[in-house]
Amino acid sequence: MTLGRLNHVGVATPSIEKSIAVYRDFLGATEIGEPFDVPAQKVRVCFVDTPNSQIELLEPLGEGSPIAKFLEKNPAGGQHHVCFEVPDIRAATAEMAAKGARVLGEPRIGAHGTPVIFLHPKDTGGVLVELMESPQDAH
Ligand code: CO
Repeated sequence: MTLGRLNHVGVATPSIEKSIAVYRDFLGATEIGEPFDVPAQKVRVCFVDTPNSQIELLEPLGEGSPIAKFLEKNPAGGQHHVCFEVPDIRAATAEMAAKGARVLGEPRIGAHGTPVIFLHPKDTGGVLVELMESPQDAH
């Protein structure tokens, strides 16, 4: 597996609206999408575009959201994961599992509409890593 482009950095927040204000009014972001729900991952999502990447704002959605658990430990929110693109999620999953990585769950459709997996931070230097299949029309 060759690690691809950094697609986005995931940031957990108790309020997407408040985080949008931080990125727009405090940091000067000009390209901010509309928030939307990803029920499969129990999150509400909003993408803030930067010239070379994106910030993925994540708010808990419904019961048992992994973001709710994160916010229990980090009530103000904070950096949650980094997401790299790979050409083939099935191949990447198999390869990482063969290397002994703890792959969290089966590939599932992520916020960009392509399949994603997560790698346990204990195997990746303390950083929760999302691998995302590159969108077909992206590059
Ligand atoms: Co993500």
